[in-house]
Amino acid sequence: MTCVVWSCPGTRPGSWSSCSRRPSQSATVGSCLPNLLWGPLMHSQALANGHDSVVTVGGLQSNHCRATAVCAKLLGLEPHVVLLVKDQMLQEDPGLSGNLLPMRLSGATLHLCPASAYRAAGGDLAAADHLNEEVAEQLRRRGRDPYVIPVGGTTPLGTWGYLNAVEEFQQQLTELEDPIDHILVPCGSGGTFAGLAVGFHLAQLDGDARRCRLHGVNIQHHPAAYHELIRREAAGLGCSSWAPVTLVDGSGAGYAVAGEAELRFLMDVAGAGVILDHTYAGKALYHFCDYAKVHPERFRDSHILFWHTGGLFGLYTQAERLQKMLPAEQLQVYNS
Ligand SMILES: Cc1ncc(COP(=O)(O)O)c(C=O)c1O
Repeated sequence: MTCVVWSCPGTRPGSWSSCSRRPSQSATVGSCLPNLLWGPLMHSQALANGHDSVVTVGGLQSNHCRATAVCAKLLGLEPHVVLLVKDQMLQEDPGLSGNLLPMRLSGATLHLCPASAYRAAGGDLAAADHLNEEVAEQLRRRGRDPYVIPVGGTTPLGTWGYLNAVEEFQQQLTELEDPIDHILVPCGSGGTFAGLAVGFHLAQLDGDARRCRLHGVNIQHHPAAYHELIRREAAGLGCSSWAPVTLVDGSGAGYAVAGEAELRFLMDVAGAGVILDHTYAGKALYHFCDYAKVHPERFRDSHILFWHTGGLFGLYTQAERLQKMLPAEQLQVYNS
């Protein structure tokens, strides 16, 4: 991972840092930090156990499904993705926008699943996993042997990926001039948040000497769901405690829905050299900044690390809206 110090628009210069995977390491599967951290572990297990295919689940523009599909293909496993779509889109070809382009180029089979079935199953993480398991069962009936990856790759094995990330991050902390006081990360399926909460505790980053507070910003689901998830993931690794965490509500107008203000914010941050997507990283940072404005005393004079989780492909679905916000003078015609 690389860690850079930057200034979030509207805040004190130098008070923010951001860490993300080096672009070279994500070149094959594209950006989706959660998947890059645990992907190799799960795909290795799939190969070691002799599976011939991989099946996972997510939204239509899921970074997780895209990265899983490309990674599976790279390793000779047949990729299947269960994509939750609006009921009225079920009979349409979903096209090639955003994540769908690399996902479909990789040859993944898309199992389009109506949102009504997802809602009927409970509309939560367990519902997505239930639909995923149903497709896996259909594949088994057709003679395939799929390795089933739950939504977001959130399992105790996946959590190991985050423990590795924390180890890498700990090394980087020693190279920073200022200590980090707060770390914030987007929460989708919650695996990243849970993994970091357990990892920070094991690495004693939540200890008195070098205390940093972990904040998760939920961009879907209810904040309470993530506390239970941390408990479960920690228990799966035999841990009974984890770093203290805060949850900030960043669900806004709904999953992957970005309002005008959120897009404007993305553009401002991009102007600082940090490109964020509108579903995860950008939305989380936008809502966290709102939260920090309401509680300035908690963040005054602190250094905040934004754990950038990638997700750029999805932003292409917003190209038309973003184009309208760009300044006309950006385009200059060459004049000799
Ligand atoms: C770009 C990006 N950031 C953050 C997340 C959220 O990670 P998690 O599902 O581990 O909460 C995802 C999930 O797919 C993602 O694609």
